[in-house]
Amino acid sequence: MKNIAVLVSGGGTNLQSIIDAVESGYIDGKINVVISNREDAYGLYRAKKHNIKAVFENDENKIIEEIKNHNTDLVILAGFLKILSSKFTRTFENKIINIHPSLIPAFCGKGYYGLKVHEGAIDYGVKVSGATVHFVDENADTGPIIAQETVPVLPTDTAEELQKRVLVIEHKLLKEVVKKYCEDKIRVEKRRVFID
Ligand code: GAR
Repeated sequence: MKNIAVLVSGGGTNLQSIIDAVESGYIDGKINVVISNREDAYGLYRAKKHNIKAVFENDENKIIEEIKNHNTDLVILAGFLKILSSKFTRTFENKIINIHPSLIPAFCGKGYYGLKVHEGAIDYGVKVSGATVHFVDENADTGPIIAQETVPVLPTDTAEELQKRVLVIEHKLLKEVVKKYCEDKIRVEKRRVFID
């Protein structure tokens, strides 16, 4: 069984989907700790409700220590809106995954987080958007892509409406990837990711 750490900055609906999938037995893993760089993140409250250790921490070195203390096999960035240093990404190479609410390489990288991603997609006029789960390397949103799924973008959409539509598939995609990861069914060769 894999040891999982989840990092959040906000509401934590993606965290909740992982908690539920672990509790139902869909994911063969254990969430040992949830860490947030924001003290008021609702995600910390969700963790506590499920008897998971919840830590507010902004210092990256301390976050690394906390993750190491739990013998962590997988670090999930579930709406963690702080860019990680290369020290962090090298410490947990190929063990960190991130969920991003667009089809990378569109509307991603520095400055594209939360609603800003959806505003970007709407302003550009794209007809499809979606969600991406990828490994995290030392740059923002550039690591190997594990899975993507699309949703339509309607001409009348507001950023909030698009965000809602994308969130539904985020929750599904993230738990599918975490399940495969915990079963050792994900393999990376250069930028190409193979899922058995
Ligand atoms: C999600 O849409 C996630 O993809 C996004 O933040 C939201 C967090 O929602 N992440 C990024 O934009 C990362 N660049 P949640 O707290 O309800 O899971």
